[in-house]
Amino acid sequence: MKFFSDWLLLSIAALSLQPAADAASLSSYSKPWRPQFHFTPASGWMNDPNGLCFFQGSYHLFYQHSGEGLPNGGASWGHAVSKDLVHWEHCPPAITLDEKGAIWSGSAVVDRSDTSGFFGGKPGLVCIYTYMNPAEGDRQSQAIAYSADGKTFTKYQKNPVLPQLRYQPGQPDDESFRDPKVFWHAPTKRWVMVVAGGTVRIYSSPNLRDWTLESINKDINTECPDLFELPVEGVAKESRWVLSGGGRWYLLGSFDGHKFVPEGKKQPFNYGHDFYASQTWNDLSDDRRIMTTWLYNWDYNNWPTEPFSGGCMTLPYELKLRVVKDGLRIFSTPAKEVQVLRGELQSWVDKTITPGSNLLAGVCGKTLEIEAEFEVTPGAASFAFKVPRGGSNQTVIGYRFAEKKMFVTRSGRSDIKNFDRTDEEPLPPQNGCVKLHIFLDSSSVEVFGNDGAAVITDDILPDPLCDGIELFAEGGSVRLIALKAWPLQSIWHQP
Ligand code: FRU
Repeated sequence: MKFFSDWLLLSIAALSLQPAADAASLSSYSKPWRPQFHFTPASGWMNDPNGLCFFQGSYHLFYQHSGEGLPNGGASWGHAVSKDLVHWEHCPPAITLDEKGAIWSGSAVVDRSDTSGFFGGKPGLVCIYTYMNPAEGDRQSQAIAYSADGKTFTKYQKNPVLPQLRYQPGQPDDESFRDPKVFWHAPTKRWVMVVAGGTVRIYSSPNLRDWTLESINKDINTECPDLFELPVEGVAKESRWVLSGGGRWYLLGSFDGHKFVPEGKKQPFNYGHDFYASQTWNDLSDDRRIMTTWLYNWDYNNWPTEPFSGGCMTLPYELKLRVVKDGLRIFSTPAKEVQVLRGELQSWVDKTITPGSNLLAGVCGKTLEIEAEFEVTPGAASFAFKVPRGGSNQTVIGYRFAEKKMFVTRSGRSDIKNFDRTDEEPLPPQNGCVKLHIFLDSSSVEVFGNDGAAVITDDILPDPLCDGIELFAEGGSVRLIALKAWPLQSIWHQP
């Protein structure tokens, strides 16, 4: 009890010291390993994206944020806004911890017809989050805060709106009850919440304040669940509901406003190590389904990126549901908005990559986008990019023909737990070709294979002095059909 009240006071003090980023704190965006076109807070620890939504002409990104020196785990919701989903402006913390506990992950919705009654008949923004209260044995409950202007947020006086029901009959005996994802379900004309932490539960509400339990998927467990409908590309009137397990896996199925019924097995979203707590955006102005994910994980120690820690957010990924040989699969590609960052194009067509040569010897840069297509070449073992070449901390992104796998290998940081590793994903060639679409930032890589059939997202820690790139072949020459490379602009330092 004593510890928690001290921690709360310390946390509140530290948060009040964190203004929106000013010019001085933005200078820290020039340091090595500071992502240049991915979102990071100016300082402090960041984890899950929260409350992703489009409201009054701006994209609102909230995120789990703790001040320096505080325990990890998201004491409050940090906040940033964007006009284009790419360039971000920091805002003051939106929802800060209080005597009811820390503000853990959740979502936000635009309450267009003021079902909540908070906005005098006008539209407003309602955030739905988890209180995690160590003073009550880590009790978790769901609460709401509202905002008419997307700038100042008021916590609802009668919070929590959904207390921890663990000990009541019919409820799962599960102490984890968190990360509510809420959306408007048009067919039943009410709000739906999928909430888990442990067991997946679905609630409904007419007004975001009063919630009714609809169903429990007692065999499905996850943090940060999401539930949304995706049309099957190219098949009129066909769609599936997707239950996302924090972006680690997805289940396809049906949802009637009451219960999610899965069909088939869990499929991975991403084979990278640094892809967690995904959330899709609510209230977009078009019918795309866009997902943003925490590009990091809970597994590291000694991560050397002060004054920020906890990695960054991924680029926005657009999700599509496609028919493939084995059924239906989700494909992820970078949202088209990201193209605004491209600098001058360099391109190559119809080249042979011979072992020992480096076609990209003249290319350098710590922030690059590369689109390349290779022919499956008999006799060759693999092709790969070294980003950067040189230095002791290598990242190699490539493809092995015999295994039909794309891979990302990181090495040279055995001082960081779980860093040195290879992530790999099956990627059958398409019409005898393999395509890789790579985004390289100063401490991350995102690799999309064959138009999003496979994705690997990883943090990297390149040697700050190296910025050259190498493209090499092993075990024989490889035919390159085409390669395009663009330097990418920083979203923090405008030219
Ligand atoms: C996932 C998570 C959530 C929780 C949050 C706390 O990374 O553990 O389940 O709400 O982080 O910061």
